[in-house]
This record gives sequence, structure tokens and C-alpha cells, in this order.
Amino acid sequence: MGVILLSVLGFVLVMLTAITYYLRSVVKEFDIEDEAGINVENKKGSVLSSQTFVYTAIVLVSVAMAGALYLYVKGTPREAHLMEWLNIVIRLMHITFGIAWIGASFYFVFLENALNRTQNVREELAGNLWAVHGGGFYYLEKYKVAPKTIPRHLHWFKYEAYFTWLSGFCLLFVVYYFNASALLIDKNVLNITPFAGISIGVGSFIVAYIIYDLLCKSPLIKIKVLFALIGFAILVGFAYFYTHIFSARAAYIHFGAMIGSIMVANVFFVIIPAQKAMVKAAKEGVPVNPQLGKNALNRSLHNNYFTLPVLFVMISNHFPTTFGYENPWLILIIISLGTAGVKHYLNLREKGELAIWVLPVSIIILLAGAFISAPPKNPGACKTKIEFSEVNAIIQERCVSCHSSKPTDDVYKAPPNGVMYDTPDDIVRKKDLIMQRVVVTKTMPQNNKTNITEKERDIIRCWIDQGASVK
Ligand code: HEC
Repeated sequence: MGVILLSVLGFVLVMLTAITYYLRSVVKEFDIEDEAGINVENKKGSVLSSQTFVYTAIVLVSVAMAGALYLYVKGTPREAHLMEWLNIVIRLMHITFGIAWIGASFYFVFLENALNRTQNVREELAGNLWAVHGGGFYYLEKYKVAPKTIPRHLHWFKYEAYFTWLSGFCLLFVVYYFNASALLIDKNVLNITPFAGISIGVGSFIVAYIIYDLLCKSPLIKIKVLFALIGFAILVGFAYFYTHIFSARAAYIHFGAMIGSIMVANVFFVIIPAQKAMVKAAKEGVPVNPQLGKNALNRSLHNNYFTLPVLFVMISNHFPTTFGYENPWLILIIISLGTAGVKHYLNLREKGELAIWVLPVSIIILLAGAFISAPPKNPGACKTKIEFSEVNAIIQERCVSCHSSKPTDDVYKAPPNGVMYDTPDDIVRKKDLIMQRVVVTKTMPQNNKTNITEKERDIIRCWIDQGASVK
């Protein structure tokens, strides 16, 4: 059944791909006529929209193929393998689109800040910039409002943002939502059903954008400091909310995904429509409403400040000392504030404004995060000598349901990260990681699914402190 479905979908995919080649050749013919001065705008427009249609169909068919493949391997040992490869492919896409988007965003903010606005600038220009890159010289000009005639070939920066969001949303499903009971929900935080968790997660993105959008449209936007303070307070609220609903790790990712969604919504609902309206007005020769450009610039500046906090969140999952802290929301907020501060400093510097204090203050904020999450200097004396048998009993009871060559856990069918504790040697070799995850950050057992006790964590600590001997 699965094989038949896959073959049919595969065939459709090949046909759709062939159609894209055909449509491309049609567009090329129109381009030639266009160059020759024949008006083909309408015809070309309809071909371009069929092209969009075909590309959408290709994406949908590919997703359906992944779904069919999933049904085919569901319940077999290959299910986890498929999920892992989906994870790799989508993550790579997400990173690539994200780099393209954030790279362009950084570049344009830099351009804006570094423009020469005074020397030899033509009346209609806001400024220009000479640059050398990749073995060539570049000369760029920014218009105050718009050029007199809009050039035919105008590059739009938007798909980077949309695809970053789409791939990120898919990744959220592959990593957190398909495995909601294991990764999204931590019963020690809040005992909710996977469905409730996923609905809260997705719903929170929409609510966040509505709040932010109202704030931007309120008169507050004119009072920058107040706007920033209220915005920050709302972010603290979201961080607190997420860490009291989801597992700490999932809470971090949701915080990042929430900000990322606001950033993409800014592009989709404000920046691109403003640019379209400006192009339209310029084409029709009517004056452009300068407020549109200002709104777009505001949103794009907010996006700029959001970038570093979001990038931190996206890598935070590798650092259990961050989400493993007893008040995970606090570290999240400290790092968001500190990294946004660093971004602020960089922006000021590019503009040539000297506010050097911003950098050390941001760094102190970040160091404060490292300081408060540090493990206690003196975790308490170990009075008795711990025998390996005691530790082994704990590990067998609390860890090997996941960390074994043949896990019995309901979710993990292969040892996570390849970590197994089947033999004494396996345990001793991993003693430093065990100390970090079980004693210092308390991020293992995952979501304390196997109910390890504080006393047992302490026994493990003392055994490692006493030299982790197996005799
Ligand atoms: C419910 C399943 C589960 C249980 C039970 C569990 N773990 Fe894990 N463990 C995981 C998963 C999933 C990962 C990979 C994700 C991560 O690093 O958080 C992991 C990762 C680790 C790592 C990090 C490996 C690396 O390469 O960084 C260590 C160390 C670890 N576990 C130790 C333990 C110890 C010790 C116990 C028992 C006290 C334990 N785990 C219990 C699921 C579990």
C-alpha cells in the first residue's frame, strides 16, 4: 500500500518538475518579446502565477511523500531513522534560509547606517556607498523615496524570510510535536495532553503577533524608550508563561519561534505590503505616503534587534546549563536582553555614534546569567564511601530504559545520542557528562521521566567526586 502510494506520488512529482521546465521556456519567450517592445505583461503574469501554482504543488506532493513514507515505516525500527533524516534535511534548509534572511537583514541595516549622506550626493538620493567584496568594486545608491521610473527588474527580499519560517515550523513539528509527550510536555511542569500543548504553542504565536502589532499601531511607538520597556515586559511574560507550560527545552524553542514568527509577520504584513504600495504609487506617478516607509523601517529595525536573541535560542538546546537552570525563564530573558544590547551597540557603532557604555553593560548582563546559573561552590560533604553497586543500581533503574543498546522506553527506540550504560565501563567513561546532566543541570533523566530522587543524584555526585571507581 505504502509503496504504491509512494510510486504514484513520485510519478506526479516528476511530471510537475517537467512542467516547471516547460513554463520556464515560455517565460523566456515572453522575455524576448518584452525586450522587443511588445506588451506581454498580462500573458506573462498568468504564466508566472501558474508557475507559483506548480511550485506549491511540488512542495505539497513532497510533503505528502514524506507522510506516505512515514506511514510505511511507522511502528518499525526505521521510524526513528526517518524522523532523524527529516530532521537533518529540514534543519539544513532552516539554517540555510535563515542565514540568507538574517544575512540580508544585517547587510541592509549596515548599509543604512554606513551610507555616505553628505559628500557628492545627488538631490534625489539619500546616500551612497562604495564597497569592495569578492574581488570586485560595488557602488550602491539609496533613493530618498523612489526613482522616477521603477526599473523592470527589481529584486525583492522576501522568500528568505518566508522559507525560514516555513522550514522552522516544520522542524517544530518533526522535533517537538510528533514527540510531544516526550519533548514538549514535562509532567513535572504541567500535565497537559499533547493536543493541548500543541494548540497552546501554535496559538501563542498568533496572540504574540496581535499584541505586538497593536503596540506598534498605538501612539507608544513614538516614545521609543517606553515602547522598548513595555515590549520587554511582554517578552518576560511570554518567557515565564512558556517555562510554566512546556519542558524547559521546548519553552526556549517556543520563545524563539514566537519572536521569529513576529519577525516574519513583520515582513509579510507590513514591510512587503508597504513596498508594494510604494512601487505602485511610483508607477502611477502619485506621491508616496512616507508613513508607509517609516512603518516598514520601524518593523525592520525591531527585527534587527530580535535577531541575536533568536539565534541564541536556536542554539540553546545544546546547552543544558541554560535551560537546566531552576528558573529557566530568567536565563532566557537575561540572554535576550544582553544579546539585544550587543546588537544595539553594533548598530550605534555603524552609525558612528559613540555610546561605548552599552557594550560593557550588555556583557555584564550576560555574565550575570552565567554567574547565577553556576553550580554551588560547595555542594556538601560526602561522608560515606559510595560503592559502584549502589550507583549501578540507580543507573539501571533511572537511565537504561533510554540509554541502552535496546531501550525499553516508549519513545526512544535507539540510545539517545548513542549514550548507553549497559556495562560499568560505559558508565565510567561518561562520568563527566553524567555529572553535568544529572547533578549540575538536572536535565537527565529527561523531564525526570524515571523519577530520580535528589538523594540518588547526590549519591552519583559523591561517587564521581570520590574518583568513580568500579571496585
Ligand atoms: C526518557 C529517556 C531518558 C532517560 C530515562 C534518560 N535519558 Fe539521558 N538522554 C535522553 C535524550 C533524549 C538525550 C539527548 C538529548 C539531550 O542531550 O538532552 C539524552 C542525553 C543524555 C546525555 C548527554 C549525551 C551527550 O552526548 O551530550 C547524558 C550524559 C545522559 N543523557 C545521561 C543520562 C543519565 C545518567 C540518565 C539516568 C540518570 C539518563 N540520561 C536518563 C533521554 C533519556
